[in-house]
Amino acid sequence: MTTIAFPIPSTEIIQERVAEAVRAGLMRRPKRLPAWLFYDEAGSRLFDEITERPEYYLTRTERGILAHHADAMVARAAGLEAASLDRITLGAVSCDRLRIAELGAGSADKTRLLLKAAVAQQGSVIYEPVDVSLTALEAAKERIECEIPGVTVMPRVEDYTQGLELDPTAAGERHLVLYIGSSIGNFEPWEAERVLSRVRAGLNPGDGLLLGVDLKKDEATLLAAYDDAAGVTADFNLNMLARLNRELGAEFQLDAFEHCAVWNARESRMEMHLESRAAQRVHIDALDLEVEFAEGERIHTENSYKYLPGQAEALLASARFEPVESWTDEQGWFRVHLGRAV
Ligand code: TRP
Repeated sequence: MTTIAFPIPSTEIIQERVAEAVRAGLMRRPKRLPAWLFYDEAGSRLFDEITERPEYYLTRTERGILAHHADAMVARAAGLEAASLDRITLGAVSCDRLRIAELGAGSADKTRLLLKAAVAQQGSVIYEPVDVSLTALEAAKERIECEIPGVTVMPRVEDYTQGLELDPTAAGERHLVLYIGSSIGNFEPWEAERVLSRVRAGLNPGDGLLLGVDLKKDEATLLAAYDDAAGVTADFNLNMLARLNRELGAEFQLDAFEHCAVWNARESRMEMHLESRAAQRVHIDALDLEVEFAEGERIHTENSYKYLPGQAEALLASARFEPVESWTDEQGWFRVHLGRAV
């Protein structure tokens, strides 16, 4: 069963939102376009391709961490103390049953590792992916129910940045909310805190949050991850302009703009921009607007914050999650944190 938490917006309403966001963003100085515009059908496909590029270490590094530690993550989330972990296989300790929710339905491939661990621990599991895209959710349901016996998928169409409404847990059950893939890094620190606080407001004490964060590392590795040699990330960034051409009758010439990835050391974040190669004026039909660009002028499209040691713990605490444990890879490039709602 698909739970529709709010009426699915009609195409016209979505177009209206796109139009409003584009008008507001292009009037700003410096110009900005909101990152959610990346993920139309073409953009979502390109993003999946990014995650398979050799330079984009994030996905495979996080997957490796989950592959190594999924059992421990699930056991700790269910309330087990670290010291009892090796006894769980002997059935010597009892713990709560988990229901697993996930913010965003895009990372199903990594999620699978945790769902399998939960099925191994408790026989079956309810999985509640939360996403604004019904299509993404239906695809996830189909895939996961076929592939992992013991998982019941109950998708929710919801904008989790506005809060989270999960079905209440029964006695002896806890929620574990997955927020992996470094998506939290796309929010500025104050927004990240607000998003997690809203998520926390929908949980009970004892529920868990599994948070994947990308860590600060050498600049060359970061720059390559956001500007791969095959040019997929460039296509992904430029697809935003292609989308405006398709949906708003804009007349952006894609080769008149350049994908540009910048490391902002002061803010500890990667920034994505689209840079105008020349002075130009672009007509946007649906907005009845002419937008002027100077040569070298940029549209800022995304940030990806790279966390310093201790920052994720501080963020969790500020949203009323107690940091329980964290797991990293051999190179210390990425870290997955378990927080417990207090
Ligand atoms: N959440 C992803 C990240 O921050 C999104 C992303 C990957 C992205 N590559 C990008 C966003 C390139 C804009 C441009 O890593």
